[in-house]
Amino acid sequence: MSMEQIHITDVAPRDGLQNQSVQVATADKLQLIRMLVAAGLRSIEATSFVSPKAVPQMADAAQLVPQVQAALPRLRISALVPNLKGLERAHAAGAQEIAVVLSATETMNRKNINMSLQEATEVCEQTLRSAHGLGLRTRAYVAVAFDCPFEGPTPLESVLRLSTRMLEAGAGEIVIADTIGSAAPGQVRDRFTALRRAVPVEALAAHFHDTRGLGAANAWAALEAGVRRFDASTGGIGGCPFAPGAAGNLATEDLVLMAERSGFATGIDVMRLLDVVDYAEALLQRPLGGRSMAWLRRQREKETRQ
Ligand code: COA
Ligand code: ZN
Repeated sequence: MSMEQIHITDVAPRDGLQNQSVQVATADKLQLIRMLVAAGLRSIEATSFVSPKAVPQMADAAQLVPQVQAALPRLRISALVPNLKGLERAHAAGAQEIAVVLSATETMNRKNINMSLQEATEVCEQTLRSAHGLGLRTRAYVAVAFDCPFEGPTPLESVLRLSTRMLEAGAGEIVIADTIGSAAPGQVRDRFTALRRAVPVEALAAHFHDTRGLGAANAWAALEAGVRRFDASTGGIGGCPFAPGAAGNLATEDLVLMAERSGFATGIDVMRLLDVVDYAEALLQRPLGGRSMAWLRRQREKETRQ
């Protein structure tokens, strides 16, 4: 029996780096991406074409995208865009896949992209349609899909309605994001089970943060609900600078360990992810790594001693 495959998009270069205080050089971002590919990643969210005033770390997006494409022509890279200007910049840089970001509450849209929910929904729809017209692949984030740091619990009805609108505007993938890492497995199961009635499960992706240590448990609940596409961030680096209380993403190494030990193939060599974490630690000058990091490092030591 062949193992069932899950698809992981590593978002470390974007979600991971966007709130780091250390400014990372473009060449170092390229090296980080090369190392992720060496570990087996085939899909990476490389950067975002947002206002450099909002997120200075992403000011080099137009330089990074062509460099990644030249170095790694077969890699699927995505770039987050908040509006049509972002799409224009991404397209001019040669991006072939973009992601729009729609928060499921009024206040989160205002804090993140300075738009009302209605305005953000329309801008995302326009951006998806234009991207489609340009022949680009698309993803649509539905952010704060469980709780909003400003408004509390997010109504399921909002998540369903906005996901449907993004799908109808042509989004190839709907990424349900627990932006502040407040979800729990029972709720994840219920939300994805409801979402499957509105969005084909092949087009659904899950994006978790590990604020309360439940990232892997939530990913498991999504897996059991039939989801096979996941975002994760190597080293667990990440978080939205505009969502108070948000911590790092579910670590790619934790997701890979959990999935492979449970009979799913990821194509990723978890021991080689350790090299990426070492590299990212040197760049960011602080300890990184998911919940499994201490154990993984002990395993590596054992292997090198043998
Ligand atoms: N890329 C680069 N610059 C952009 C841009 C984009 N996608 N969109 C707008 N700008 C520029 C404008 O040209 C303008 O520049 P100027 O001040 O030199 O004239 C400036 O940003 C303000 O434009 P405006 O349309 O008034 O935007 P705003 O101030 O309301 O900000 C966003 C809106 C969306 C541009 C900004 O909030 C943003 O980039 N947010 C992204 C947040 C993010 O990355 N969150 C984490 C990921 S979810
Ligand atoms: Zn995130």
